[in-house]
Amino acid sequence: MTSWKDQITELLNNTVKEVEKVSASKSLEELEVNVLGRKGRLAELMKELKDVAAEERPKLGVLANDVKTKIEEIFVHARTSFASAEIKQRLNHETVDVTEPGVRPPEGHLHLTTQAIRDITRVFERAGFSTVRYPEIDWDWYAFESLNMPKDHPARDDWETFFVDVPSSDKPEEGKMVLVPHVSNWQARVMKRAVAQGEFPVRLINIAKCYRRQSDATHVPMFHQFEGMVIDKEVSITHLTGTMDYFVRSFFGPDRRARLRPHHFRFTEPSFEVDISCSLCAGTGKDSNGTKCRLCKRGWVELGGAGMIHPNVLRAGGIDPNEYSGFAFGWGVERTFSMKEGLQIDDLRIMYKNDVRFLQQF
Ligand code: FA5
Repeated sequence: MTSWKDQITELLNNTVKEVEKVSASKSLEELEVNVLGRKGRLAELMKELKDVAAEERPKLGVLANDVKTKIEEIFVHARTSFASAEIKQRLNHETVDVTEPGVRPPEGHLHLTTQAIRDITRVFERAGFSTVRYPEIDWDWYAFESLNMPKDHPARDDWETFFVDVPSSDKPEEGKMVLVPHVSNWQARVMKRAVAQGEFPVRLINIAKCYRRQSDATHVPMFHQFEGMVIDKEVSITHLTGTMDYFVRSFFGPDRRARLRPHHFRFTEPSFEVDISCSLCAGTGKDSNGTKCRLCKRGWVELGGAGMIHPNVLRAGGIDPNEYSGFAFGWGVERTFSMKEGLQIDDLRIMYKNDVRFLQQF
């Protein structure tokens, strides 16, 4: 009968021969399990070590460890040679055409509203305005009362306001907190700051988000407004008219005109709606056949509100209306953008639907 020592030496020699014959990495794995696995040939042999004479066991144990280490090295070596042979084979067969055009990753761009905000800002900066941004969540006093709209005034219903469910201000006169329904909430703050720091003339633009309970083709519940304010000694309606005209020509094109139409806001006196001449009929209200223009029907389209700042509002901001006067104007960014020539966006809500087929066009 073959001795235990001979059997383990034979296992080592056989493994060397069998590994040499293996031609694929899968078969190498199978052989490794067969020799070194938990129920493999080495493990079986180790179980039989207990039957060997006790005095021989320590020496054979050392031999067994030695054989195990050698077999493991044989497999590591064989695996490495298989891997590099496979890489070599792939390199010989696969080619990369470096001249082939690559696949371009999809490229995004700024949202239309952001583009519009930048364009509007640039136009006003050229006229000497600085751009600021005031809170979009504010106290009732800044959003309404400082603007000459007392608590129960019905004009407040025009601003369909979202109230925020937080405790009222520590200062009782500031009232509840609101998501601002227009960006005119900045006026009193700007005025107080200008008085405190002696920063006249005021020539600023505020662009921020506003919120109203509205959603239809021409209204979105969250939109952006830009509001401009100029305050100095002897500011008049002529300055307001000139500024409106300058903006309309710069933003919409040199052929477009602005017109002020009498209106009513509590915070301006006199107040106006600002219209621009229609891009389709050039302000005539008629198309080339003499029929009513299908876009505007009357030659003009409405842009936003404007007016001379009401004396009560100047007073709320700490400014003496006998010394200073000013004008303010406020329009929707989305509405202004949608009125650009050739766009004819007939539903404002599409700007926020995240439909890339629409957004990609700009
Ligand atoms: C105001 O909000 C005044 N604060 C504007 C103003 C400022 C007047 C300074 C005088 C002096 P009005 O409610 O009309 O006014 O809104 C102004 C513009 O905001 C509208 O012409 C429109 O362009 C835009 N707007 C109003 N509501 C929405 C809405 N739900 N979605 C999109 N745009 C809107």
